[in-house]
Amino acid sequence: MSGTTIFVIGLIAAALLAVAGVVAIAGRRGPAPQSPTAKFDRRAARKDKARRGAEDVTAAKLVEDAPDMATVADLSDPLLEREEVSFTEYSVTRRKFLNRSLGGLFGIFLVQFSVASLAFMWPRLGSGFGTPIVVGSFAELKAMIEQPDGTAIPFFVAKAQTWIVPFETSEQAGSSFNELPAVASDGSAVGLMALWQKCVHLGCRVPSCVSSQGFECPCHGSKYNLHGEYEQGPAPRNMDRFAVELNDAGELVVDTGVVIETNRSTKKTFKYPQGPFCV
Ligand code: FES
Repeated sequence: MSGTTIFVIGLIAAALLAVAGVVAIAGRRGPAPQSPTAKFDRRAARKDKARRGAEDVTAAKLVEDAPDMATVADLSDPLLEREEVSFTEYSVTRRKFLNRSLGGLFGIFLVQFSVASLAFMWPRLGSGFGTPIVVGSFAELKAMIEQPDGTAIPFFVAKAQTWIVPFETSEQAGSSFNELPAVASDGSAVGLMALWQKCVHLGCRVPSCVSSQGFECPCHGSKYNLHGEYEQGPAPRNMDRFAVELNDAGELVVDTGVVIETNRSTKKTFKYPQGPFCV
C-alpha cells in the first residue's frame, strides 16, 4: 500500500472521527444543571398558589351571590393557564445554544476541509500530469531532436513537464538505467528518454543547454549531461525521469505517474560538456 493511499485513508478516518466527535458534543445532554432561577421559581410558584386560592374563594363567592353574572371560567387568569414545561426544555440556555452552534459550524468546516483535501489529492483518472501521456510519433520526435551535425536539441513537452532526449540503447546495460523502463525503443540504435524538468536539488525548472549538450540549473548551478546524469553542483542524484514505452501506433507514451529516481552514475553514458556552459 503506497504512502499516499495510507495518508488518504488516515485523512478519511480523521474526518469521520471529527464529525462523530462534533455530533456527540453538540448533542450531549449533561447532568441537569442547577437553574439560576430555581429559587425565584419556587417563590413565584408559592405566590401563584396563594393567589389562585384567593381567586377561587372570590369566584366561589361571586357565583354564590350572582350565579347568572359570572362563572369561574370567566374569572380565571389566562397567565395561570400556562402549560407545564419540563426542566430539561426550560434549561436550554443561551450558552448551550452558542456552544452547539459553534460545534455545528466547526463540524461543517471540518467536513469541507476534508472533502477539499481529498479532492486535491485524489489521483487524476483522466489525462494530464500524473497519468500516461501520448507525446507523439516516435519517428517524428527523433527526427526533430537529432540534428545533422550529431548534436541533439531536447524536445520539451509542457503537459508532461518533460524533456525528451535521445539515448543510445547500447549504453543502457551497466548504466544507472539498466533494466529500468527509462528508454523507449523501436529496435533501432537510438531510443528516447523522458527527463523530468524539475531539478532534484530544490525543484527549480532546469533548462537545456544546447552548447554544452546538457541541462544546467540556474538556481544553484547543478549540471547534468544530455541523459540527465549528475555532473556538477549540489544536486544529490541524477535528474529524475518517467517510465516510457511505445504504443501500438508507434507513439511515445510518457507515464508521468511513474517517476524513476537513480543515484549519481558511476558509469556515464554521455560525454559532457561538449561546448560552453550556459550557466
Ligand atoms: S534547485 Fe537546481 S541546483 Fe538547486
